Amino acid sequence: MRSPDALLTLDDAWQALINPPTPAGSGRLHLTAAGWTAAGPVADDARELLDCLAPLAARSGRLAIAQLGQSLDGRIATECGHSHYINGLASRVHLHRLRGLVDAVVVGVGTACADDPLLTVRHVPGRQPVRVILDPRGRAPARLRLLREAQAPTLHLLGEDAEPDGPGAGHVTRLRLPLVDGGFVPAAVLDALAARGLGRVLIEGGGITVSRFLEAGVLDRLHLLLAPLLIGSGRPGLTMTPIATLDQARRPGVRTFRCGDDTLFDLELDGSRTAPG
Ligand SMILES: NC(=O)c1ccc[n+]([C@@H]2O[C@H](COP(=O)([O-])OP(=O)(O)OC[C@H]3O[C@@H](n4cnc5c(N)ncnc54)[C@H](OP(=O)(O)O)[C@@H]3O)[C@@H](O)[C@H]2O)c1
Repeated sequence: MRSPDALLTLDDAWQALINPPTPAGSGRLHLTAAGWTAAGPVADDARELLDCLAPLAARSGRLAIAQLGQSLDGRIATECGHSHYINGLASRVHLHRLRGLVDAVVVGVGTACADDPLLTVRHVPGRQPVRVILDPRGRAPARLRLLREAQAPTLHLLGEDAEPDGPGAGHVTRLRLPLVDGGFVPAAVLDALAARGLGRVLIEGGGITVSRFLEAGVLDRLHLLLAPLLIGSGRPGLTMTPIATLDQARRPGVRTFRCGDDTLFDLELDGSRTAPG
């Protein structure tokens, strides 16, 4: 049994975030969607982590959060798709923490093909989320690690007429959704995931995918991790329907956090659900 005067460490805080019903520190920490309180002393890095992630971890019901790591000039990759790494290690740890707090991690097929990611939680302890590929035309090749490696289940979302590459490995479930104007309706994607018990979702990228979910007004939060570099050209982060005047711009609530040399902008989108236009 730990003393109530013992310092609550970063690891304690993370354990409390991923196991909210039985927080570390024998109930010294209390998490709510509005924040957190602690009965004893809390280390500075644990305090920052709790400030940033307690509202996400303690939130009940469905959640849709997106993230993009980008340069100061808003690029998420070079022209040829190279993106490893725009962000520093602290941001990559943050991304793994986001994965550890959700039921499912979603990427567009562009990212699946360009990065061949695993989408697992490796930098911190945590439960592995279901990995989801949005692939309306069935262009993900069977050689992708998401489709070959079974560290976590993979959900391959396909358009109704798509013909996927090969029969699919045992950890891969194929699910077909209707296409509207050539794409999945973001709300329908989230509903289909929730129907499978995957109510907490991270939209991890890339820019096209996150932009569609943002434009559809279905995101609760967006984490933009700005790295101190200029790429000057390359794949854009957010690209949305043009607006004519700045009064049509979204002005979400924003909190900022230091993430190594990067800066995390935590955008609260609940209040800005209406698409401009
Ligand atoms: N820095 C970061 O945080 C970060 C994160 C992820 C990726 N990346 C980089 O970003 C690049 C890829 O991003 P990207 O913007 O080009 O592509 P992407 O968003 O990964 O994938 C876009 C494609 O996914 C499918 N898709 C996405 N949303 C859909 C929807 N609602 N309905 C139907 N299909 C949907 C479409 O496939 P179809 O074209 O077949 O219709 C779409 O063209 C890579 O270079 C990667 O390295 C960076």
